[in-house]
Formats: sequence, C-alpha cells, structure tokens
Amino acid sequence: MVNIAIDGPAGAGKSTIAKKLAADLGYVYVDTGAMYRSMAYYFLTNHIDAGDEKAVEAACPDVNVTIQYVNGEQQVLLNGENVNSVIRKEEVGNMASTISVYPVVRTKLVELQRQLAAKENVIMDGRDIGTVVLPDANVKIYLTASSKVRAQRRFDELTEKGISCDMSEIEKDIIDRDYRDMHRETSPLKQAEDAILLDSSDLDIEGVVAKMKEIIQKAV
Ligand code: DC
Repeated sequence: MVNIAIDGPAGAGKSTIAKKLAADLGYVYVDTGAMYRSMAYYFLTNHIDAGDEKAVEAACPDVNVTIQYVNGEQQVLLNGENVNSVIRKEEVGNMASTISVYPVVRTKLVELQRQLAAKENVIMDGRDIGTVVLPDANVKIYLTASSKVRAQRRFDELTEKGISCDMSEIEKDIIDRDYRDMHRETSPLKQAEDAILLDSSDLDIEGVVAKMKEIIQKAV
C-alpha cells in the first residue's frame, strides 16, 4: 500500500489539499482530525470535563469511532451516528486539541488510523502521522503557513458559511492550539526528520496541490 502523510498546524490547508490530491490521484483521504473532533463532540455533549483526565479515561470505553466512505467522502460515525455536520465548529476543534493530549484517546484512534492505512492507498492528514502513526510512509509532507495567513483563511471559510466570527479571536485560538499541539507530551506536532517542509503562506490551493503532486510523483 502507498501511504502519504501530511502533518501541520491548524488551518494550514491540510484537509483541502489532501482531499483534492486524493481525488486526483485515486487515493483514499483519511482526515484524522475529524476522529479527534468526534471524540471531543462526545465529551462536549455528555458534559464530561475535558480537563479531568480520569473522567475522560472512564468515558473512553463508551465511545466508538468508526469510518465509512460514501461517494468518496469520509464519514465519521460516533457510536453509529454520522457526526460530520456537527464537528467542524471552532469549539469542537479546540476541545479536540484539549482531549488529544491524553494517551488513552490517542491509542484508540491511532489503531483505527493504522488499520485504514494497511488496507488502502491513503493520504492521511493530522499532527503525528509522519512521526507516530505511519513512520514508514512513502512520502511525508509538513504543511505550514504563518498564523496570520491561517487565521485569515479560517475567517474567510467561516464567513462564507455565514458564521459570524472575530479575526483576532481566531488568531489567538490558532496560536493557543499550535502551542498545545506542539507541547503535549504524547505525540506532539512536529516535522518528522524525513518530511519535506512546504510553506503555503504565499501559495494558493492550486499552487500547493501542484507542488505536492510533484513531490509525490517523484517519490512513488
Ligand atoms: O486538524 P483538526 O483541526 O481537525 O484537528 C483538531 C485537533 O485534533 C487538533 O488541534 C489536535 C488533534 N489532532 C491530533 O492530536 N492528532 C491528529 N493526528 C489530528 C488531530
């Protein structure tokens, strides 16, 4: 199987780019952030305190996350229910970052991610794909952009969806999330030693896709 790992901070464009690449190259796109988000959504809706590791640990056996593909789109099933439409909010993303520090949460999801990569050619994006989940991936890319550019993109995305938001709050959230994701003890976000660094600050989507295709085609 061919495995392509894309890691990077929040809002760098990983999922947009990975989705396009997967469609163009005929790979299965695996969005691991959506898995952490679905667990976060469970804790939010069941009023479980994300700061209480014991409470999170105790609840984990009740959370079943599975993945299905419908017309090429990844659907995350939380205890059998498709939660795609309720996990994209900033609140859920921030909660996902908070609960993703716990080894019990990570172990559960990493296993599911490895199973998917073992049976399909995948483009998988996340924070620890090249470093922990798929250390032997054929291609590893670390996609980043400045926090200003990432905040602007997120602002545009939310505004387009009709969700009102505040630019400075979004940038603060992004900086906080970067810090938490990069400084946690278990599987922190960092560039794998053998990953190629790609800064998308001055590139549009097509530009990044073209660069990545070049990298992938050279390697695979
Ligand atoms: O990519 P995203 O914004 O959907 O991810 C939400 C959070 O989930 C992110 O801030 C940290 C966590 N996450 C992680 O710890 N490991 C991954 N492979 C993917 C996401």
